[in-house]
Amino acid sequence: MFYKKNILITGGAGFIGSHVVRIFVNKYPEYRIINLDKLTYAGNLANLKDIENAPNYVFVKADICDFEDMLRIFNEYQIDNVIHLAAESHVDRSIKDPFSFAKTNVMGTLNLLEAARQSWLTPHLAPRTSHLFYHISTDEVYGELDFDDTLFTEDTAYDPHSPYSASKAASDHFVRAYHDTYGLPTVISNCSNNYGSYQFPEKLIPLFINNIRHNKTLPVYGKGENVRDWLYVEDHARAIDLIFHEGKTGDTYNIGGFNEWKNIDLIKVMIKTVDRLLGREEGESEKLITYVTDRAGHDLRYAIDSTKLKNELGWEPSLQFEEGIEKTVRWYLENQDWLDNVTSGDYQKYYEKMYG
Ligand code: NAD
Ligand code: DAU
Repeated sequence: MFYKKNILITGGAGFIGSHVVRIFVNKYPEYRIINLDKLTYAGNLANLKDIENAPNYVFVKADICDFEDMLRIFNEYQIDNVIHLAAESHVDRSIKDPFSFAKTNVMGTLNLLEAARQSWLTPHLAPRTSHLFYHISTDEVYGELDFDDTLFTEDTAYDPHSPYSASKAASDHFVRAYHDTYGLPTVISNCSNNYGSYQFPEKLIPLFINNIRHNKTLPVYGKGENVRDWLYVEDHARAIDLIFHEGKTGDTYNIGGFNEWKNIDLIKVMIKTVDRLLGREEGESEKLITYVTDRAGHDLRYAIDSTKLKNELGWEPSLQFEEGIEKTVRWYLENQDWLDNVTSGDYQKYYEKMYG
């Protein structure tokens, strides 16, 4: 079978990556999608059960920190384009173990950039198709906003505070350096907080939905006054599809929901929704709220201005938050097996047996 493009998607077994892989596999049978993932605790092939047998889908278990293996994979699968999502993604873990964030997020990204450069920019090889290295990043690189500051734009100076955001900022800089120094065709997008199905329950929304269901305490950091800008994950995946196809090489696009919530207000919405769907008295579970020591270096507020993406490429979030959070709560309540499986880590034992 001849494929128009061989697209390497890294981190495709994770939360956002699995939604991106699903869109690309289903929408573009003319592309071959190579999902490269190390299957860390956050990578779960059960997220992709519905497309795992699609003819245009290949899964490769590999570590982006292994440069020689990246070169081999570029060569073996004749990679034309990269959509790079693989990363260590949880801020709290980065505070405990910054080295693994530098290793995966910085060195892993550099390995992929260099593999792309060596594969794509060799002068005697005519490109099979136009190349693109699309790097998926975060709004956290811009630092934090005060309550009355204007939103982050693509021109906001980088000012990361956590080891996670510092590692993502460094990876963004490497991507730009490869564009400016070697002429590697790149594009970057920086997105706000995602929510939706298949998110690992260490992050606020799935953790709290699960805890509310099981009457466990809800550990709210500090006073619960920090603000995040929430975007439904399928809207992020749609934006990635659009930027991949129509984004300008060398450019950066911000992606956000214009949907800011104080943590404590969002938590109360989740409580009401879970209580209602479980037939409890609405708000009954507020008693589970427990204020705990704040996260070190906790950024006060993130809020993204995605006007450029709207004006240039016509993207807008499709879901109102009320609808998105209802869908999300229902999904976690209906997929308790998935939650039990990831919290017990059983799938990892299975992968150890499968892949050694
Ligand atoms: P996630 O933690 O759910 O998934 C990360 C995936 O990367 C997992 O499948 C994991 O197995 C894989 N991975 C980790 N280390 C690897 C390695 N060394 N080699 C190969 N694969 C490896 O993360 P997510 O929330 O889906 O985030 C995906 C990307 O989007 C990240 O780059 C993150 O910085 C970015 N991002 C996330 C959000 C968000 O709200 N979750 C928002 C903006 C940007
Ligand atoms: O802004 C985009 C970023 O959003 C992504 O780049 C990250 O990969 C992603 O993890 C997310 O980072 P946050 O730190 O904002 O997400 P998290 O779900 O960890 O926390 C959301 C807010 O909730 C934050 O203010 C901390 C707070 N929180 C979180 C947890 C896990 C709590 O109060 N209690 C908790 O137990």
